[in-house]
Amino acid sequence: MRLRYVKSAKETIESNKDICITNPEEYKGKWKEIYPFKKIMIEVGCGKGKFITEMAVANPDTLFIGIEKFDSVICRAIEKRIELDINNAIFVRGDATNLLDWFEKGEVDRVFLSFPDPWPKARHEKRRLSSPRFMDMYKVILNDGGIFRIKTDNVPLYEYSLESTLPYLDNPTYGERIYADGEITTEFEEKFRKLGNKIYYIEGKIKK
Ligand SMILES: C[S@@+](CC[C@H](N)C(=O)[O-])C[C@H]1O[C@@H](n2cnc3c(N)ncnc32)[C@H](O)[C@@H]1O
Repeated sequence: MRLRYVKSAKETIESNKDICITNPEEYKGKWKEIYPFKKIMIEVGCGKGKFITEMAVANPDTLFIGIEKFDSVICRAIEKRIELDINNAIFVRGDATNLLDWFEKGEVDRVFLSFPDPWPKARHEKRRLSSPRFMDMYKVILNDGGIFRIKTDNVPLYEYSLESTLPYLDNPTYGERIYADGEITTEFEEKFRKLGNKIYYIEGKIKK
């Protein structure tokens, strides 16, 4: 059963190469030329694409790129995008450790991390999407004035991220994120808010 499911995810990706980019290195430095939008915002670890597609509907002058490493997850995002029939949301299927192969220096206006996997074991620190290893990459691909934001309900990850991200940010704001009416949320945020979990965020301008 599982094999069949993965096979259909692969087929969804293969037959929607205009929506799900599988060769992002060929787009490096050319995203705005290929997709003529004023701004580019990315969500690293976009899951099933709720945030990216809803942000795209609300901001038609911006290209939203969701990055996700699992076929079985990203195919749900592709389906949402097809259903909405919008032209400013696309996905990159791949591992974000390769961000510097996909985006040129200063090519991105915003990086969103939403409820990234906490990777609690110290030996997995490098896999945390808010670790210095990733912050160094966001610093390169974000433009002057570019914004980084992370949201999480995981307190140890929030505390770790305060240490790992604040040295990279100018004028940061952080703390508990009280839901603002109309704020666009992710699948995980919806789930955690329903459970009554507190949500935390860190946001700021990347230091150049
Ligand atoms: C906990 S889920 C959150 C999904 C979504 N952002 C949300 O809030 O609903 C984290 C997602 O990040 C993806 N992810 C984790 N590390 C990644 C990496 N290095 N590159 C691409 N995707 C990654 C996982 O596959 C997973 O789908």
